[in-house]
Amino acid sequence: MNRASSSKDKPFATGAQGKPKFYLTTPIYYANSRPHVGSAYTTIVCDVIARYKRMCGYDVAYLTGTDEHGVNIERAAEKQGITPAQLVDRNEKIFRDLWKLLGITHTDFIRTTSTEHARAVQHLVRRTMKRSPDAIYKAKYEGRYCIYDNLYVSDTPEPANCPTCGRPAELVSEENYFFRLSAYQDKLLELYKAQPQFVQPDFRLNEVRSFVESGLKDVSISRKSIKWGIPWPDDPEHVFYVWYDALTSYMSGIGYGEGENGSAEFQKYWPADLHMIGKEIIRFHAVYWPAFLMAAELPLPKQIFAHGWLLFEQEKMSKSKGNVAYPEPIVKVLGNDALRYYLLREVVFGQDGNFSREALLTRYEADLVNGLGNLASRVLAMIESYFESHVPEPTSDNAITKFISGPIESIAREHYDAYRFSSAVQDIWRFISQVDAYLVQEKPWKIASDPIHRGQLREVLYTAAEALRIITALAHPVLPEATQEIWRHLGQPGRLEDFQLNELVWGGLKPGTRISKPEAIFPRMEYKPTYERIETMEQEIRNPGATQPAAATPAAEGAVAPASAKIGIEDFAKVELRVGVVKAAERIQGADKLLKLLVDIGDEVRQVLAGIALAYAPEDLVGRKVVVVTNLAPRKMRGLESNGMLLAASAGADGKPVLCTFVEEIPAGAKVK
Ligand code: MSP
Repeated sequence: MNRASSSKDKPFATGAQGKPKFYLTTPIYYANSRPHVGSAYTTIVCDVIARYKRMCGYDVAYLTGTDEHGVNIERAAEKQGITPAQLVDRNEKIFRDLWKLLGITHTDFIRTTSTEHARAVQHLVRRTMKRSPDAIYKAKYEGRYCIYDNLYVSDTPEPANCPTCGRPAELVSEENYFFRLSAYQDKLLELYKAQPQFVQPDFRLNEVRSFVESGLKDVSISRKSIKWGIPWPDDPEHVFYVWYDALTSYMSGIGYGEGENGSAEFQKYWPADLHMIGKEIIRFHAVYWPAFLMAAELPLPKQIFAHGWLLFEQEKMSKSKGNVAYPEPIVKVLGNDALRYYLLREVVFGQDGNFSREALLTRYEADLVNGLGNLASRVLAMIESYFESHVPEPTSDNAITKFISGPIESIAREHYDAYRFSSAVQDIWRFISQVDAYLVQEKPWKIASDPIHRGQLREVLYTAAEALRIITALAHPVLPEATQEIWRHLGQPGRLEDFQLNELVWGGLKPGTRISKPEAIFPRMEYKPTYERIETMEQEIRNPGATQPAAATPAAEGAVAPASAKIGIEDFAKVELRVGVVKAAERIQGADKLLKLLVDIGDEVRQVLAGIALAYAPEDLVGRKVVVVTNLAPRKMRGLESNGMLLAASAGADGKPVLCTFVEEIPAGAKVK
């Protein structure tokens, strides 16, 4: 892939020469809607792995991207009255922006609608037809198709109902290209036998093996009835059907399709070391994908790891069910590290896990604010007070034995290596508790006043600070931002992401190093207002405008606007806007977000309800000039009539409304146009 064109946001660059390579991928996400916490989960997990592997000396390539073809995209676009291209352009940007917000260090990003991807898919099928002439053939496809939802319901002619609308699906019959999957049954079984690590966790391999043993049917890999796809080479009436197209992204994303043998990047990184996926798409990855590659005589990925689902109230998060949580509010309110920590600590990786806002806030408070954050503040503050901000000289040189009996590598690392993230995090937090207990036992704040104990004080604070340094380095893949902050305050040079974990030995913190005391690494929060802020912001994403009924609310950041055709001046002229002056403002009982205002609009005083209570105190509004939409039909809210609307701007999903106002003198009632 041409990185410059497909990776506009300049993702993380791959590292230096001479290191072992590690190539990992997320699934490419359907660009029919915006990502939720479930989709962010895989990407965050892969980011933890990428960062960990870099700290272990690997040159990491990390690919993510968007799956932009297929009927679902066509349908979603149609519903919104826009073209599929417009839809995927908008949604792809939302994905990219989110990965940026989350600090994801992917090195490559692939869109399946890019020309380099189309070229790669066509190249792969041509190569396959050359190397395995029997693998692909044309035949009649018969399946069930729902004409109301434009959906292929089943790939067999037996009657079936549409899962979306429940109506009987119609029999469709067309000529398709098929991939002879049935011919790969034995080879696949041999693969699973020779490389039991190919599918992880083990119980997933068993599922896959039973599926293959029960017999494989050939799969259709093209469609004639769909337009939105990659044309079949030399037969453009057909487009590639989703999975052949989508899976090839793992190679096109690093330059397969450039020349006969792919780009230098492809040659360096392929085969993938790890395809990280959700459990629902394991068959495509562990059965179809290796078979497609065998037929093309290309190397197979080394491992497919299928993780569980993130559940919301015990169900898989899904936009159609409306049970989704979005990452942006959490990150904007609590920070990136809070979300990462929660997901990795709370979910046992590989199994399903529940997502709950309550548990997120509880963990934030207990483990981050009172755990790591508090330890860092205490230790650094004491060194500042008692040793003029310089790390004291210890009296012994192997105080780590106070905490663990084995080497440092025995903390967290083997869990990270096996992708047991919750255990890795538990190990690190156990270490934090041990250091806390050590401080309580040694009471440096007490012995500090007596010069007799100076040696002991040096020993205790060196030990705590060195333990903190080790904890910080080990926690870095999970908490990249907070740990970098602590690292800097510990007087350590450079970026922690460049630090190599094999250099992490006790005693690495040099006595005399100048430290500084941090501001709160994880700021304290008040539970209820924080919970409500996150909830309000989520509502705003789900239902733009609904939480701020009487103030104009710009669509939530990234929300896909309807086909927004341009309007003429005559449309705009229909809206009557006037300068208003707020005469009185008060809260409304039982409505946290609403204020009741009396607004002078020149020739009358109107009652207006505005959803601005979280952003403005009523007493600050009296006398304020605002812009009022005066010809809106009156509307009742909470039993009160609102007769007008205030204009306000807001930036993004977290954006509190900011009222439009005037700097110069202007009387109430003046027209705004
Ligand atoms: N486009 C296909 C994948 C093609 S890969 C060659 C697809 N896209 S998807 O957007 O529906 O899902 C992509 C991935 O998002 C899932 O495999 C999974 O990794 C992740 N998740 C989506 N919802 C999730 C949860 N609720 N929980 C955990 N992961 C989830 O399938």
